[in-house]
Amino acid sequence: MSTILAIETSCDETGVAIVKNRQILSNIVASQIEIHRLYGGVVPEVASRQHLEVINPCLEQALAEADLSWDKIDGIAVTVAPGLVGALLVGLATAKTLAMVHQKPLLGIHHLEGHIYASYLSNPTLEPPFLCLLVSGGHTSLIAVRGCGDYTLLGGTRDDAVGEAFDKTARLLGLGYPGGPAIDRAAQSGNLHAYPLPEGKVSRPEGGYYPYEFSFSGLKTAVARLVKQLETEGELPVNDLAASFQETVARSLSERTINCALEYNLKTIVVGGGVAANRSLREKLTAKAATEGLTVHFPPLKLCTDNAAMIACAGVQHYDRAHFSSPTLAATSRLPLTEVMSLYSHQKQPVI
Ligand code: KG4
Ligand code: ZN
Repeated sequence: MSTILAIETSCDETGVAIVKNRQILSNIVASQIEIHRLYGGVVPEVASRQHLEVINPCLEQALAEADLSWDKIDGIAVTVAPGLVGALLVGLATAKTLAMVHQKPLLGIHHLEGHIYASYLSNPTLEPPFLCLLVSGGHTSLIAVRGCGDYTLLGGTRDDAVGEAFDKTARLLGLGYPGGPAIDRAAQSGNLHAYPLPEGKVSRPEGGYYPYEFSFSGLKTAVARLVKQLETEGELPVNDLAASFQETVARSLSERTINCALEYNLKTIVVGGGVAANRSLREKLTAKAATEGLTVHFPPLKLCTDNAAMIACAGVQHYDRAHFSSPTLAATSRLPLTEVMSLYSHQKQPVI
């Protein structure tokens, strides 16, 4: 049983949370969405400045809500990769300072590990092995999780990440930023079968398709072409286009995920990342998995998008295995999930 305070500043949400084992004691998220909406997407410099402004109040609020003194906190976890470096640095500098002042071990966390472990927060008995479908603004991956730090990449996207495809398609449909929730809402009153769209299969040079690879740029281009054509015919059927797009994405993700789980004999599927909040994906994958005798776990809606509770949860996993980071740990914009153990120098004692 360990209690971890975590900080998440990799993109456009400032998060501070305290988690005891798998129980959330506090989870503060200060979203910058309204600021970035003015620019139609995340502006890195604005993000860093905003993190700096709100990090201390978030920290104070997280401690007050959890009602804990520092001696009850075992370690400080912080997202160090991947993400916007300027934004990551704000969280990392704060975490290093807290670790030094309060004499706690520092745990650098890979952001995607946070998304993988988000489902632990609503599920006290979930353990590897499982297949993780990771669907966020920057990633679309199928990962075999066999233990903490033991990840094998089984599939991924060749071009756009699925969240990126939602955001770009929403822009084409005039639905604004962030696109995923807007498409999800518009799709509720649209016809799923109005427009057949390509599922984005990736061809093998020798013929056939790669079974667990995704490509979403063709789908986005197909929507762009349709929009151009339909605009000349009258008012754009935004809801039908949103529903057809969402249906195609949910079908493509669900089919490949189920086939992958069956081939690798992984009976449990865990979904993580912002797109895990999508209604079609939740319904379709759950229904398909049930017919194959597989179990699927989705995080609660507010833990799908970026938050620090999931980072704290990943921190608990590493703390319990004495995976501590060096005080000289650096933030990096890219780090393959398979190299996550490079964040730990394996000292048994707190490193400060
Ligand atoms: O995981 P996340 O908060 O940030 C990253 O690590 O990227 O994911 C953000 C992405 C955005 O692309 C957003 O449009 C998408 O998740 N998203 C959704 C939904 N809610 C958020 N996509 C589809 N349906 C949703 N309901
Ligand atoms: Zn994320």
